Amino acid sequence: MIADGLDGGVIERAADRLAAGDLVAFPTETVYGLGARADDDAATAKIFTLKGRPAAHPLIVHVADRAGADAFTASMPDLAERLVEAFWPGPLTVIVGRRPGVAAAAAGGQSTIGLRCPAHPVAHALLVAAAARGVAGVAAPSANRFGRVSPTTAAHVAGEFGDDLLVLDGGACRLGIESAIVDCTGEWPVLLRPGTLTAARIEAAAGRPLAGATQASPRAPGTLDSHYAPRAKLRLMAGPMLRSALGVLGQEALQLAVYSRSVPSGVATGVRHRRMPARPEQAAHELFAVLRELDGEGVHLIWVEEPPADPEWDGVRDRLRRAAGGL
Ligand code: TXA
Ligand code: MG
Repeated sequence: MIADGLDGGVIERAADRLAAGDLVAFPTETVYGLGARADDDAATAKIFTLKGRPAAHPLIVHVADRAGADAFTASMPDLAERLVEAFWPGPLTVIVGRRPGVAAAAAGGQSTIGLRCPAHPVAHALLVAAAARGVAGVAAPSANRFGRVSPTTAAHVAGEFGDDLLVLDGGACRLGIESAIVDCTGEWPVLLRPGTLTAARIEAAAGRPLAGATQASPRAPGTLDSHYAPRAKLRLMAGPMLRSALGVLGQEALQLAVYSRSVPSGVATGVRHRRMPARPEQAAHELFAVLRELDGEGVHLIWVEEPPADPEWDGVRDRLRRAAGGL
């Protein structure tokens, strides 16, 4: 059921549930998360079952503040400290060495752990209330079934999992795509998943350039080629290509939608148009909701104009490529 996340009594009840080892869905500034106490492998296992997520795919552990990270890592590398100092609370996940014996299931058995301190008042209140009940951190992947589009509203989550799950409503997520994930276990930071923080900002805070991912980098299942997929087939095209493809469609009433910055509506009739915002922040904010909406309207095909090559669009471009199944 959906409950008002700004209601203190609701937060207390949600924290009770987490402490008891039950699942609670909650808003963050990026996307909604499906949470369980991270220090309890049996509780965490419920997330994998409900999502249909392979158990070897590690989860991100959410903490109320920097001090909360100490329960999960024996030592924060200097690199991670710098990034955390610059961006927490906020849309940054750091991968650091895991404290032995803690949160093995959340980490998918890896010796590292992903840590993030979200900047959403409801998430923060929940994490503080949970910590007061002895819950060191909350493991939470995006609250969607494995491989599907991440949820950015409470209604999206309820639509995925039904009425039994407690979903704290905190409105539409401000940022709209998941946190940037930076591997901080080596000498150089590695960007495992782009988010809304640009590579340039991460490098400036780290005081070091980002290194490319190598074979030795930890696996990040969110970086599977096919992910975040709507039911409709999504194809990415350059603007001029999209315009000429529409030009040859004729009057056929295809179940086609177009999401584009530069192609005006009316180039082909019978095609649904959604205008992609000109600003990357706005595009990220609405991206998953637009994909879900078009799915809801029953289109079979979504043609999306490639976003600009500008680094500010890295996060959106990454999600669109994966939504297209890596094509
Ligand atoms: O914005 C976000 O990060 C959202 C909200 C809910 O906080 N969470 C999220 O979680 O996106 P999820 O489970 O959908 O994505 C987790 C990503 C995966 O790509 C996973 O591989 C990576 O984090 N990850 C977690 N722990 C890791 C580790 N120890 N090593 C490498 N990658 C890790
Ligand atoms: Mg996800």
